[in-house]
Amino acid sequence: MQMKAALFRDPSQPLTIEDVDIAAPGEQEVRVKISAAGVCHSDFRVLAGEWSATPPVVLGHEGAGVIESIGSGVTNLAPGDHVALSWTPSCGTCRYCVSGRPQLCQVAVSTAYRNVLPDGGTRIRSAAGEDVYSYLSVGSFAEYAVVPAYGAIKITGDVDPGIAALVGCAVTTGVGAAINTHPAKPSDSVLVIGAGGVGLSVVMGARLQSPGNLIVVDLAEDKLTLAEELGATHTVNAREHDVLEAVLGITNGRGVDVAYEATGRAQAVEQAYECLTPGGTAVVVGQVASGERISIDPMRMSGRELTLTGSNYGSARPSIDFQRILDMYARQLLPLDRLIGDRVALTDVNEAFARMGAGTTSGRIVVDIP
Ligand SMILES: NC(=O)c1ccc[n+]([C@@H]2O[C@H](COP(=O)([O-])OP(=O)(O)OC[C@H]3O[C@@H](n4cnc5c(N)ncnc54)[C@H](O)[C@@H]3O)[C@@H](O)[C@H]2O)c1
Ligand SMILES: [Zn+2]
Ligand SMILES: [Zn+2]
Repeated sequence: MQMKAALFRDPSQPLTIEDVDIAAPGEQEVRVKISAAGVCHSDFRVLAGEWSATPPVVLGHEGAGVIESIGSGVTNLAPGDHVALSWTPSCGTCRYCVSGRPQLCQVAVSTAYRNVLPDGGTRIRSAAGEDVYSYLSVGSFAEYAVVPAYGAIKITGDVDPGIAALVGCAVTTGVGAAINTHPAKPSDSVLVIGAGGVGLSVVMGARLQSPGNLIVVDLAEDKLTLAEELGATHTVNAREHDVLEAVLGITNGRGVDVAYEATGRAQAVEQAYECLTPGGTAVVVGQVASGERISIDPMRMSGRELTLTGSNYGSARPSIDFQRILDMYARQLLPLDRLIGDRVALTDVNEAFARMGAGTTSGRIVVDIP
């Protein structure tokens, strides 16, 4: 079948919108008509050459749509089902899946994280006959995607596909970090550094834990305003203030019990850690450019019993948590619609990345694919 897709070919070059061929789904695969895709900083990392990926790749890993056809052996999905896509299509049988941590699935790491399907192959060919990879086994900047059946998570209810797409990455990553990986205790002081799609989702998740202070740091005033509307008790513009000083000022010199880093910058990880009160935990949610390292004081770590931990995909179990999060949205516990900024066409995806690079996005940009 022919379709249009946005292909990454060269770092720092715009994506090219090309006519490509997408195969029918194979065994344990489904073909999804994509309805909406979100623009995540992780796609930007590839585009900027900060993470490597063998080209050509259909970028986009935040997506939702409708099952168009199913391959052999698929029993839990049918054409017409609405789905949100998981970028960690967990196998269900490796030691991590079996122990309840599908976000660490060994099979996904060796296949989806290399942009291939579980059999090691691709299902898309360019007009010139090249194999085209699908970013994180999703490739949502396209009209269709062939994905592993266990990466297409059925969702119910009348949900805006833009919101369902965001549940596929930013929302589950951020909310999950705050309610699964390391939830704050009621009246804890909480810090969130970075108020993009992921960071604002952390804010929404953290708010459910009834924190005392919920401090949000960013570089952009409009993002801090949105953070306040979503429940931040204090905001700090890191362009104008020293973050540690500001956090100590707000917390009577104590520091915070839990700090979430959601910018993907090494310096912000160090800041999150430095802002901890004794016994506190810093959760690294952002993902840095390849090769970046942090520096922390191990003496303070032991003497003050600090914890530094990581969170992949919000420590979520997408097959349960996508719907759970959407149910919380329906019950008005998570105002997910507030995350969405502009909605653009597939042909405008480069403009969306340019704005992300310049830091001028306001809310998550959603690509609508009619
Ligand atoms: N752990 C995971 O599973 C996972 C999943 C998805 C995304 N991510 C990562 O999360 C990070 C955030 O993604 P996003 O899509 O929300 O990005 P985004 O670009 O939408 O938002 C990043 C925000 O950080 C702010 N920022 C940048 N530098 C800052 C600084 N020094 N201090 C304070 N704020 C700063 C920006 O102004 C922006 O608002 C990225 O690193 C991304 O790769 C991680
Ligand atoms: Zn993402
Ligand atoms: Zn597994």
